[in-house]
Amino acid sequence: MSFQFLSSRREGPVEYLTLNRPDVRNAFNETVIQEMTAWAEAITDDEDVRAAVIAGAGPSFCAGADLTWMTRMAAYTHDENLRDAMAAAKMYALIDRLPIAVIARIHGAALGGGAGLAAICDIVVAEERTIFGFTEVKLGILPAVVSPYVLAKIGASAARELFLTGMRFDAARAKDIGLVHAVAPADQLDRRVADYVKEILSAAPEAIATAKELLKKVGERPVQDTIGLTADTIAARRASLEGQEGMRAFLEKRRARWNVLPDPDR
Ligand code: COA
Repeated sequence: MSFQFLSSRREGPVEYLTLNRPDVRNAFNETVIQEMTAWAEAITDDEDVRAAVIAGAGPSFCAGADLTWMTRMAAYTHDENLRDAMAAAKMYALIDRLPIAVIARIHGAALGGGAGLAAICDIVVAEERTIFGFTEVKLGILPAVVSPYVLAKIGASAARELFLTGMRFDAARAKDIGLVHAVAPADQLDRRVADYVKEILSAAPEAIATAKELLKKVGERPVQDTIGLTADTIAARRASLEGQEGMRAFLEKRRARWNVLPDPDR
């Protein structure tokens, strides 16, 4: 795929996407949003992809919405303004719902919609000096389209504190609140990402997609309404070809056929 503000490459079953607008710290404008949406649509339909890694070019992962672009909205009609906001909301929703594991490789700063992008990734690895923030209120706006995903990740208490103050916080705090899963020094960042990629590539792809979908559905329902859903899901999965293959492979002391990692015994 070729883009103006993104670069992507495929290594085997892993898709690497880099936000590539470093002069404005990879801020999102309408073109970035269109391109990210097109990328997510293509990945959704591509059965060869087993994991995606999202990173940022230059000094920072992502500075959120492009503020030059946002100030232009004052001259838009209400409908035009809403159309742009909907496009951003759709982009986050599409990436959030990708049927594969999505890993964020974060360094520098992840602010506003950039911190929101971290929230829609399944696994987030951050360089130890990274600065995070839902800084929107400092700019007279607010984190709206990312709010459902951030709330689901960090909970209401941290969201109230961070949304209402707009304060910046470090990677250790981001890990404490569940926005980040691993913090690493710069020279170990790629290795930590690669370790997660390996875990994904030795796990069953349909099981991963089903687990991701199940977590979303379960999260949207009261516990007492989940019994049918969870029982149906495991009943279907354990009788599936993939489930049978994975359990048999364990019992027969061999690798499952989806495990594409180099065999250490060979
Ligand atoms: N939108 C538009 N331009 C942005 C931007 C944004 N969100 N964030 C940074 N830029 C631009 C700066 O205006 C600057 O442009 P210039 O070179 O024409 O002066 C350029 O990117 C580099 O920014 P700078 O602040 O000099 O870089 P830095 O590496 O020292 O700091 C950040 C990077 C991301 C920490 C800092 O730019 C920042 O705090 N940005 C605001 C992020 C924010 O609050 N986003 C929420 C948006 S809703």
